[in-house]
Amino acid sequence: MSTIDFTETYYIDRRGSYSRKWDGEHLKFSRTDLLPLWVADMDFMPPQCIQEAICTYVKAQPLGYTMTNPKYLEAVIDWYKRRHNCILSKDWLTSAPNVITGLMWCIGAFTKAKDAIAILTPVYGAFDTSASDAQRQIIAVPMSRDEDNRYSVDYDAFEKAIIKHNVTLFIHCNPHNPVGHVWTEDEMNQLFSICERHGVLIISDEIHQDLITGPITFMPALSVSNDAYADNILSMSSLSKSFNMASLHHAEVIIPNEKLRSQYNAFKGLVYHTDSDVIAEAAITVAYTNPEAEAWLTDVLAVIRENYEYLCRELCTALPQIRISPMDGTYLAWIDFGAYVKAEDMHDLFENKCRIAPSFGEWFGGENYATFVRLNLATSLENIKTATHNIIKYVLP
Ligand SMILES: Cc1ncc(COP(=O)(O)O)c(C=O)c1O
Repeated sequence: MSTIDFTETYYIDRRGSYSRKWDGEHLKFSRTDLLPLWVADMDFMPPQCIQEAICTYVKAQPLGYTMTNPKYLEAVIDWYKRRHNCILSKDWLTSAPNVITGLMWCIGAFTKAKDAIAILTPVYGAFDTSASDAQRQIIAVPMSRDEDNRYSVDYDAFEKAIIKHNVTLFIHCNPHNPVGHVWTEDEMNQLFSICERHGVLIISDEIHQDLITGPITFMPALSVSNDAYADNILSMSSLSKSFNMASLHHAEVIIPNEKLRSQYNAFKGLVYHTDSDVIAEAAITVAYTNPEAEAWLTDVLAVIRENYEYLCRELCTALPQIRISPMDGTYLAWIDFGAYVKAEDMHDLFENKCRIAPSFGEWFGGENYATFVRLNLATSLENIKTATHNIIKYVLP
């Protein structure tokens, strides 16, 4: 399907639906008439086959207590094998109501108060808040940015921080929100070998795994160096980003190490009392097995890529000193306006002049990123054109 046909078929006006992104601007912004490019969900209906699978289940069965459907487990295993060349065993799969809850449970299960947890900044803010809210210490290791605006790790600094703070857990984000980086095997090998040397457990948040629009192939952390680190990794994902179903509460938590898995499940058992969500299982099973869903994913990625290329072309022409990071994965563009706008003027510029609700840079690691915004490109090209036009109009001196 062409990008125009896809948008005509699936784009939806979400205002008035209690959408956090469209109707929740009062939660974070000074006004409510902004074009919302903040919360990371899409403005597209999910594939029709998923909509139908949910309706079919609800019409055919009561929503009684259930056990995990083996077809759902097979679908997840099949997806990882087909899409990511990663072989999972059924026993490794456990779950959480969503990725961040799974992350919080891991923090509860594997660390104690005041333990140090490492993250690579800038990064998705919930990593920091999940750890800080649980009274853990966050050790933020800033990444470096090269002249092409690509981010990389200073491995020496990473290792020194781990030693200095006696870090016990590292939260990895692959692909990396907000910088759009898809980690290569070599990069992960370096990071994970440092973790291994110092007994640091790894959580790999792979929720953006299917949103790859650049040249680097996504590799699950579990597969790095022929699965060399799999015993030390808790991997998490869900279909929520790939198929725009974030309010369907179910995430896969994949733990090959039996001891770690039992520990996770024991913690989960203290705070949660259910195994399966039938609606989520029905949706995931069809999303991961029906070719229609995969075709939808291909089409939505083409829309996202087109939006990114439009945004880059127009902004870089009008504002040649703007710094946009390569978006190889995710649908989130990470943009530094530092050459044009003072940090203290960013909110006023975006909210009162451009009339855009972005995710502001400081949400991803503090004031160092105050001249950045993250823009969500999973919307219509028309919305991206409006945003681009307004940015150029008001940023130019
Ligand atoms: C890296 C990352 N992890 C987790 C989440 C949230 O996932 P969930 O809704 O499953 O908790 C997001 C949402 O933006 C994200 O970008």
